[in-house]
Amino acid sequence: MNLKGKNFLKLMDYTPEEITYLIDLSAELKEKKKKGIAHDELRGKNIALIFEKTSTRTRCSFEVAAHDLGMQVTYLDPSGSQIGKKESIADTARVLGRMYDGIEYRGYGQEIVEELAKYAGVPVWNGLTNEFHPTQMIADMLTIREKFGTLKGLKFVYMGDARYNMGNSLMVTCAKLGIHFVACTNAKYFPEQKLVDYCKEVAAQTGASITLTEDVAEGTKDADVIYTDVWVSMGEPEEVWAERINDLKAYQVNEKAFENAKDTAIFMHCLPAFHDLNTTIGKQVYEKFGLAELEVTDEVFEGPRSVVFDEAENRMHSIKAIMYATLK
Ligand code: CP
Ligand code: NVA
Repeated sequence: MNLKGKNFLKLMDYTPEEITYLIDLSAELKEKKKKGIAHDELRGKNIALIFEKTSTRTRCSFEVAAHDLGMQVTYLDPSGSQIGKKESIADTARVLGRMYDGIEYRGYGQEIVEELAKYAGVPVWNGLTNEFHPTQMIADMLTIREKFGTLKGLKFVYMGDARYNMGNSLMVTCAKLGIHFVACTNAKYFPEQKLVDYCKEVAAQTGASITLTEDVAEGTKDADVIYTDVWVSMGEPEEVWAERINDLKAYQVNEKAFENAKDTAIFMHCLPAFHDLNTTIGKQVYEKFGLAELEVTDEVFEGPRSVVFDEAENRMHSIKAIMYATLK
């Protein structure tokens, strides 16, 4: 498998074999790290991390992974560069491409990261856009495979806002890997039809299936994985909270949502999550709407089915694999 020089912008650009290779490589690099086997094979290389939205996991994963691989990192925060304000993406790409061996970009529209990749001349990794969150996918699939030993044939249920970066990416990834994907939510939040059609076509080749349903009991029946994400994403206006809560509260992941799932079912969330009142936004939402837990209850989040911290750790191993595969 040779992915050298390839961008990592969305999973639609990758074959099932390439995705599986990245999951395998993540597992291999994870084992090396655990055993203390050095893997600083990218010594002498430099990468730039551009974050136009905030981050904990993605930024730290890129930094730690780069250091483990022997690389140096420059972090550009949402205000610390000329990007967008004084310099176009195409110009920025051509400048950074002269200095760096790879560029990570987190921001708004997918077209921005695609434009960056078009002009950079070095691999560009999508660290999240409104539409897709591809690095999260490799971590999530690694986590699921660690728990079940396999991916193909599992039933994966996504509850909540399924029409944004996480729902879209997970639907594509499940389709590619032969996993049965269910978006179980208010129909207003189903992924866009064009993407659903694409995924159904892919699913027909891989043995996966794509189901959209508003019925929680039916949607979660025999689920292996129940996944959710925040109801209001970065970059969305605060004013949408009222509508989101109203539309999505029936799709909160709570103990009842697991009633119909398999006994072995796990809970996943890309994080950060609103499961208690220990955050500023969580408190504000509580004061305004009286809801102390949002997309997931504290009971589920802290309960035995939850694998969210394994998932978060796997961000680092999988981002390392993505950089290694595209740079080595
Ligand atoms: N899951 C994820 O991307 O987390 P951060 O926003 O903290 O990077
Ligand atoms: N949908 C979330 C994902 C965060 C990792 C957001 O875009 O804010």
